[in-house]
Amino acid sequence: MDNETKQKINKRYERELNRGERFWPDSIFKDLIVSLGIFVLLIMLATFIGVDAQPRVDPSDTTYIPRPEWYFLFLFKFLAIYGQIPVLGKIEWLATVAVPGLVILVLALMPFIDRNPNRYYGKRVLPISVMAIIVVDIVMLTIMADVPTVTENGSMLPGILQAIAGMVIPLVAIILLFLMTFVFRKTSTKTMIWTAAISAILTIGLTGGVLAWFPVPATTETAVATTLVDQISAGQDLYSVNCVECHGDDGKVTKIEGVKGLEGKLIPAINSTDVLYTLDDATLAEVIAYGRPEAGMTPFGKAYGGQLSTSDIENIVTFMRYTWDDRFEAPKLKPLYPPLAAGEVPSYDVHIAPIVKRYCLSCHQAGKQNNNYLMDTYDDILKTGDQAPNVTAGDENSTLLKVIEGTPIPDPKDPTQTLIRAMPPNGHMSPDIINVFKLWIMNGMPQTAEDAAKLSVTPTPGAGSTGTPATTPTP
Ligand code: HEC
Ligand code: HEC
Repeated sequence: MDNETKQKINKRYERELNRGERFWPDSIFKDLIVSLGIFVLLIMLATFIGVDAQPRVDPSDTTYIPRPEWYFLFLFKFLAIYGQIPVLGKIEWLATVAVPGLVILVLALMPFIDRNPNRYYGKRVLPISVMAIIVVDIVMLTIMADVPTVTENGSMLPGILQAIAGMVIPLVAIILLFLMTFVFRKTSTKTMIWTAAISAILTIGLTGGVLAWFPVPATTETAVATTLVDQISAGQDLYSVNCVECHGDDGKVTKIEGVKGLEGKLIPAINSTDVLYTLDDATLAEVIAYGRPEAGMTPFGKAYGGQLSTSDIENIVTFMRYTWDDRFEAPKLKPLYPPLAAGEVPSYDVHIAPIVKRYCLSCHQAGKQNNNYLMDTYDDILKTGDQAPNVTAGDENSTLLKVIEGTPIPDPKDPTQTLIRAMPPNGHMSPDIINVFKLWIMNGMPQTAEDAAKLSVTPTPGAGSTGTPATTPTP
């Protein structure tokens, strides 16, 4: 820098200084006003929009994969693609400590390294280009953070492409820019800008390609029950699938029936005051998590090899308290299925599926004793089972209908023995529910609500009947 420019700059500084506006207190005051505004904005956001609730932390959950917050995702991705380099990948501290440390150090020392007094961007091509490349790289690394580095069939291609886009190209460009400035000296600014631009375009293009070729696998969002009603409903669903098998849909069972290895076992009714008054919430949760292995109740908590998270177990406990414990008053819950209007035909999706889930699924799922009769999907209900088919449209003598009506099926080879007992073996369903099953079977077993609507008849007013249900299939 020649003396002339130096003087010019000094003069301008002098002028600005005389014009007033001091750092203390003027600038600080402005800063304070802005911070106050942001503070108020944050309070408003927290009050009116808030953060979605997440499942309770479960320190024993080994399936949890920790991920950084979004603003650290680029570093996370950087570590992942760095690991792709055969030799360096093993030296982890280089990527985790040395490289980020170096970058922060360079940033801190920037005022001492780059002593160029010019502000005009045309005169500051090197720092601006380098920073632009880094910013583009950070954005791209963040965008592709969710793309795995290895495909399902073991191909390393996505990792290699990501390493090229996120590491090789930016690094080469930055090295070139430094060489142009300090070694070749006379390189035109145009060439430098082109170098930066091309590297940014390559990084962006390759990132786009990676995203297009290797789509981000869909993550399953876990819905979290936040209101009491939601918690009870979630708990009831979990109870239905996991506990009905032994304890019955209402917790009333005192003699286990229809469960492999536990046939005839006597247990306390878990809906009794005896159990509910003696066991507090924490103990109940512990019983569910650890089970009673010596008595035949397997552990349900993830910590002990089961399927249920801490939140799941808490929801079950909440369900038990509010439905069975007379010291608690349950809020109004959604009915199991929407009530049927006169002449309306129930459908699998809307009516049968929730009933089956509540009363049958806990035994009629894979891995349980159930004559291979699975009830988790429409097709399985129609087609599986040792006695398949267990339901036939329009057949009043369908096995399923007989057994839920309380009539066991005798063994054809030895009529003194039962082949299939009444279902559910450990309780009963209300006549209303049995009637829904009957209506469904007698009207062609429609799967969807639309199919059912086509079959439903609207009762003719004044026909004398208060809406006799459709018992014959209507064309
Ligand atoms: C495979 C059968 C089975 C399943 C499934 C099962 N339990 Fe149990 N449960 C038992 C047996 C057996 C006992 C032991 C009774 C005893 O200790 O004599 C028991 C005991 C309990 C007790 C303690 C009763 C007491 O007085 O100590 C609770 C509470 C309980 N179960 C809740 C549940 C819940 C909630 C689920 C569903 C997550 C569940 N159980 C699933 C078989 C089962
Ligand atoms: C406690 C466990 C349990 C529950 C709950 C249960 N079942 Fe069963 N189910 C069995 C067992 C065990 C069998 C095998 C036959 C037997 O042991 O009687 C069976 C057999 C059947 C069969 C005969 C399948 C075949 O092809 O042989 C039908 C139909 C059936 N159940 C319907 C139902 C329905 C509908 C529900 C719900 C309302 C239900 N079950 C609830 C345990 C259960």
